[in-house]
Order: sequence, then C-alpha cells, then structure tokens
Amino acid sequence: MKYDGNLGYKGAVTPLQRIMLARRSVRRYEEGGVMADHVKALLETHGAFCRKMGFSASRIYIEHEKRDRDRVMAAACSGLAGKGNPWLPITKAQAVMVLACETASAPVIGDRKVALAQAAMAMEAVLLKATELGLGTCWLAAINHAAIEKALMLPAGTYAIAMSTLGKPAQGISILSWDGMTYHLLSKKRKSLSQILFNDRLDNGYNR
Ligand SMILES: Cc1cc2nc3c(=O)[nH]c(=O)nc-3n(C[C@H](O)[C@H](O)[C@H](O)COP(=O)(O)O)c2cc1C
Repeated sequence: MKYDGNLGYKGAVTPLQRIMLARRSVRRYEEGGVMADHVKALLETHGAFCRKMGFSASRIYIEHEKRDRDRVMAAACSGLAGKGNPWLPITKAQAVMVLACETASAPVIGDRKVALAQAAMAMEAVLLKATELGLGTCWLAAINHAAIEKALMLPAGTYAIAMSTLGKPAQGISILSWDGMTYHLLSKKRKSLSQILFNDRLDNGYNR
C-alpha cells in the first residue's frame, strides 16, 4: 500500500495505517531476532483478533526453536509442491508461522465456507503485529501443505492454508536479490490505502 496523502483521522495518519504502509514482504533475513515474548505477543494478537471478530476456525502455529522451525521448513519445501520458492530452503529467517483452518467449526454463509477468508484476516493481523515488533514476514502459499500438516501433527479436519517466515529483516535491499526484484515488480506497485480502505461497506470510502 502507498500513502497518497489522502488518508488519516483529522489530518493524521493513524498508527495502524502507519504499520500497513510500512509492511512489505521480506525475503532476506539476518539470523535471530525472534524472542519468546514476540511469539507470545503474536499468538495473543491472533487470539484477540479472532475473539473480537467472532472467528472460530483459524489456528496459528509459530515455531522459533531451531529444531522445530527446521522440521516445519523442511516439510514446507519438500516434494514438487514445495519447490515454488527457491529462496526459502536457504532463508536465515529464525521462525516460521503456519496458518491453519479447522473446518468443522467453520461458519457457512450462503453456500460458502468463510473460514478461509477469516483465517486469512487473522493472519494479516498477526503479520501487522510482527511489523510493529520490527520483524519481517512473507506470505507463502507455494509450499507443501500436506507435509506441513504431518510435521505439525494437525488434528483431522484441520488444514494448513499458508505460511510465513518470521525474522529479522536484512538491512538494505539489493536489486539483484529475490527481495529486490519482488519489491520493484510488486510491492512498489501497490494501490494506495484510500483505494482499498472502506468503512463497513464497499460504497463507503474511508475518507468520505
Ligand atoms: C496468499 C498469498 C500467498 C503468497 N505466496 C507467496 C509465495 O509462495 N512466495 C513468495 O515469495 N511470496 C508469496 N506471497 C507474497 C506476494 O508475492 C507479495 O504479497 C507480493 O510480492 C506483494 O509484496 P508486498 O507484500 O511487499 O506488498 C504471497 C502473498 C499472498 C497474499
């Protein structure tokens, strides 16, 4: 998202908007940086968001201890399904977060299960909290979902949806890196916040 000078509350960009503007996908990390307190804060964010929104099906698993992190990462990158992210097996990101969905408790609206959308919203709240804590994240869907479910021993009916790296962002972005290329090709072309924020209804633009 970009700031187009057309947002804010009474002329100021809100703290949440500031975090939304600051967040970008990070694919180059330094070692370390993820403390137990960070993990606690992220899990609390997920719980508080789901409680507030009345979401029951979203689950999040954060692995920051090396052995557990490596096991989930190896599963994510295994098989043909796990080969979509050449940078992932060698990332220095200290931790991984897995988003899962418990379909038995998933609400149905009309003929659609909305659990997936709800879980994605909950994950985005966690990613914004990570940004606030100074940590880098990157949504990952090109992963081996079935292998992750096995590695985490998810109960029957609970499915891995997506993953994110979590770690200390490396300083500076070289244009010749995955991070640099995706930043220039994708992140820089974001829509502005005022194009995508609405008050409750899609016909009610944020600043109207
Ligand atoms: C559902 C979803 C899945 C994604 N999967 C991947 C992925 O497998 N690998 C990757 O490098 N980026 C992945 N991304 C990140 C997008 O490429 C990223 O959002 C895009 O580059 C825009 O960059 P930004 O997040 O910095 O704005 C995914 C994003 C979303 C929302």
